[in-house]
Amino acid sequence: MPRSNVSIADLPRHVAIIMDGNGRWARKRHLPRAAGHVAGVSAVRSIVRAAIDVGLENLTLYAFSSENWKRPQLEVNHLMGLFRSYFREDVDELVERNVRMRIIGNRSRAAPDILVMIEDGEARTARNTGLNLTFAFDYGAQEEIAAAARNMALAAARGQLDPSNITPEFFALHLSTRDLPDPDLIVRTGGERRLSNFLLWQSAYAELAFLDTLWPDFSRAEFIDTVTAYAQRERRFGAVAPEAVA
Ligand code: FPP
Repeated sequence: MPRSNVSIADLPRHVAIIMDGNGRWARKRHLPRAAGHVAGVSAVRSIVRAAIDVGLENLTLYAFSSENWKRPQLEVNHLMGLFRSYFREDVDELVERNVRMRIIGNRSRAAPDILVMIEDGEARTARNTGLNLTFAFDYGAQEEIAAAARNMALAAARGQLDPSNITPEFFALHLSTRDLPDPDLIVRTGGERRLSNFLLWQSAYAELAFLDTLWPDFSRAEFIDTVTAYAQRERRFGAVAPEAVA
């Protein structure tokens, strides 16, 4: 695949995506929801390849939220089957294309064989230096923040941490994203305008792009347009623009 004419300097360092709209994509075609998720996996492949091709540093995909377990058991089983086949079929390509793959989220509820595949994928790609691809899997931001607070409280109770040392920077070191930059851009497909418990701490200064496109229809071209449009926006992190300073 030819490298697109996108300048790396214009790219956000970290793009995170809430992949929504699989069910509606299927309903529009009078297909079962499962067909929407299958099409959603194809979109995952194409967006990961686009991210590699343009030279993006970090891509995080919201694959399964901690609330998604509440979906009908058949749908959960089907999604788990898709994760199995993704990890079985795609890790070779990730290894080959220098992608470092990791998972954030709760590892205690996944089926043991899925956990083995995840750990295998992480181990096989650990030394890669290209795209950092993170799947949020059984992930919930409130749970992540509560776990960080709990760990710090336990350390304080043991006398190993002085609570007055807890700054935002120190807090962030206790989150699962400790070795990733905060997302510069969060994209949500599927028309809803909310974060749904995704990277709540890390999104403090993120640009947000809410797209009506349903996830299975999200193309390489729209992904590249969305991340490059981000480069036109000015981010001030609470300060004023330099030209506004008299
Ligand atoms: C939202 O669509 C999507 C999900 C709950 C899961 C995302 C999963 C995939 C894209 C496929 C599997 C991914 C990997 C990495 C193998 P929805 O069902 O909420 O859609 P709706 O809002 O239209 O009903």
